[in-house]
Amino acid sequence: MKLTDDEKAMLDGSEGPARQKAMEFLVRYAEALGAERFVDTDNVCLTVGASTPFLRDFAVKPGGLDAVFSEFNLDSSEVVEIPRVKAFTCQLITGLDSDHWETQGVAPEVYALHRENEAFCARVGINLMNTCTPYLVGNVPMKGEHCAWMESSAVVYINGALGACTNTEGRESAGAAALTGKIPFWGYHVPENRFGTHLVKVEREVDDITEWGLLGYYIGEIVQERIPVLDGIRHLPNLAKLKHFGAAAASSGGVEMYHIPTLTPEARSLEEAFGGKEPQAVLNYGQAERRIACDNLNARNSSNNIDYVMLGCPHYSLDQLWQVCKLLEGRRINANTALWIFTPRALAAVADRNGYTKIIADAGGTLMSDTCSAIGQVLPRGVKVAATDSAKQAHYLPSIMGVPTWFGTMKECIDAAITGRWSGASA
Ligand code: F3S
Repeated sequence: MKLTDDEKAMLDGSEGPARQKAMEFLVRYAEALGAERFVDTDNVCLTVGASTPFLRDFAVKPGGLDAVFSEFNLDSSEVVEIPRVKAFTCQLITGLDSDHWETQGVAPEVYALHRENEAFCARVGINLMNTCTPYLVGNVPMKGEHCAWMESSAVVYINGALGACTNTEGRESAGAAALTGKIPFWGYHVPENRFGTHLVKVEREVDDITEWGLLGYYIGEIVQERIPVLDGIRHLPNLAKLKHFGAAAASSGGVEMYHIPTLTPEARSLEEAFGGKEPQAVLNYGQAERRIACDNLNARNSSNNIDYVMLGCPHYSLDQLWQVCKLLEGRRINANTALWIFTPRALAAVADRNGYTKIIADAGGTLMSDTCSAIGQVLPRGVKVAATDSAKQAHYLPSIMGVPTWFGTMKECIDAAITGRWSGASA
């Protein structure tokens, strides 16, 4: 590893034990990856704290949240006091919504721990965005900006749609990057690793958000961690469609980067998307492939009785909230069905002012923030079968929470919330 003077200074402890631990970890990480140097980063999105279930027990040990950060963000069994972060840093989702924790079935002691987490984050300078979509609420990195982000759906969005550069970091590397402002120059930070590998010939209409989710889910399954280039897109996608596309591709596979020639920033042409090379493979996406994606998403469902509708994975944008309100206004959901809709807290504040929160509440639903059902592991009590408009949530609710989940359009999900029955045609 070639280290700069400031990196050497942190490594030899001149900036205190926490930054020293962070640099020690980053050097080990970089050497394991085969990176020869670091790159500066001033944009980190991570998860710290202990409100997610597997960490809660750890936070009550001596050292409290400094101990949690030392162990789980710096890979250090020695507890060090955590100083202010160096890089601009945002918290991703947490384990609960601090306004709706009781509805979510969260115990008071876990809520108290969550508040301690938030105070810890504020003390060390971590911005409490509490969302998997920081790019919806002000953290929109530039093309070429080196970032260190966790959260696969956000990573693929900023690499593919924005042309920013990040790998999918873990808790440790992102924590160390926050303290040092450094990340290994490796993977998607290196320009030649960002070219397309697989040409996807899109042979059917992909227009609405559900179709973008299905396309992403199919592609992810096939290309896994490689880089698809979409040819044949005839309808301009908006932010919400690309958000769903990337989240789906990152859950059925491990897609972290994509190109859509003439639309995304590093692909002014098909040739530029592939860096002048031939694709490693060519795929077609037509009716049969769409059917496979649908069948895979809805594979484990036997009952059409729906007792939970989850919307907002990735967290809903404002235009999605507006659309859902148009579908809900003046209607009432079924007495046996819960409707929870997730959005970043900053957008929930706008939704409150716009009257969206009230429309959702008047219909019997709840607008929530800061968490989600699959990752925060928060569900209405006694849920047996769920429905969602998110391929990612439909992928993870059965596998993480053991809840069979239907995938369909937003309208099909709202209809299911109102009738308590799934009758989605897109499935
Ligand atoms: Fe976000 Fe949870 Fe979906 S973290 S992307 S809402 S699974």
